[in-house]
Amino acid sequence: MIEDAIKAFRKGKPVLIYDFDDREGETDIAIPALSVEPEDVAMMRIDGGGLICVSIPFSAAEKLGLPFMHDILSFSARMFPQLERIAHFDISYDSRSSFSLWVNHRDTYTGITDVDRSLTIRKVGEAVKSVLSGEDFDFGREFRSPGHVAILKASQKLVYERVGQTELSIAIAELAGITPAVAICEMLDDKSGRALSKEDAMKYAAEYDIPFVEGREVVEYYKKRAEEL
Ligand code: 5RP
Ligand code: CA
Repeated sequence: MIEDAIKAFRKGKPVLIYDFDDREGETDIAIPALSVEPEDVAMMRIDGGGLICVSIPFSAAEKLGLPFMHDILSFSARMFPQLERIAHFDISYDSRSSFSLWVNHRDTYTGITDVDRSLTIRKVGEAVKSVLSGEDFDFGREFRSPGHVAILKASQKLVYERVGQTELSIAIAELAGITPAVAICEMLDDKSGRALSKEDAMKYAAEYDIPFVEGREVVEYYKKRAEEL
């Protein structure tokens, strides 16, 4: 239920977000960035097993000077022509990815440990909070790249433009009224070597009392709330 997901985010608790049967058909563990502790990173890598990323809104990324990775590659192709071809999208479930830079906070050591990744994620959350409050933020002073946490930049029109977990997680954060920066990680299946099925993700959600929401529910609720305002 979307209301349960919103309540969980307000408490800094995890939510499972399934996108769509005709998109990736994947479920991500999602946790508000400002609440992410080392044990949350451990839970995402052990129970999720996918890539641990942090979603942020388009506006915050623009203010922090964070481009999409495909734009970085396209511009860099002036110097390294082969990058233009690498930047070309041929994913079958969407028109483009949401990847921006990979970063580590400068206070991390290797950047990969649960302690380091949780610090980077929380600090990205703090950076988003600062710029959305109108404060200046010197991203390069606090972070280095490449690093071990992928920043995902949501589309400008959010769920009106793209409906990946990048946008769905930010939409739930906005509905919850919390800082819109969310750590997300896909749930994978050790047995099949594929994404965890929706059914198994729902069983996990029930076992650990974590709200499970589908993209359709998030998009409908978000648009309805936007119309009411
Ligand atoms: C990063 C990804 C994941 O699919 C993640 O869920 C975000 O991407 P999207 O917004 O495309 O669903 O690619 O691991
Ligand atoms: Ca996804």
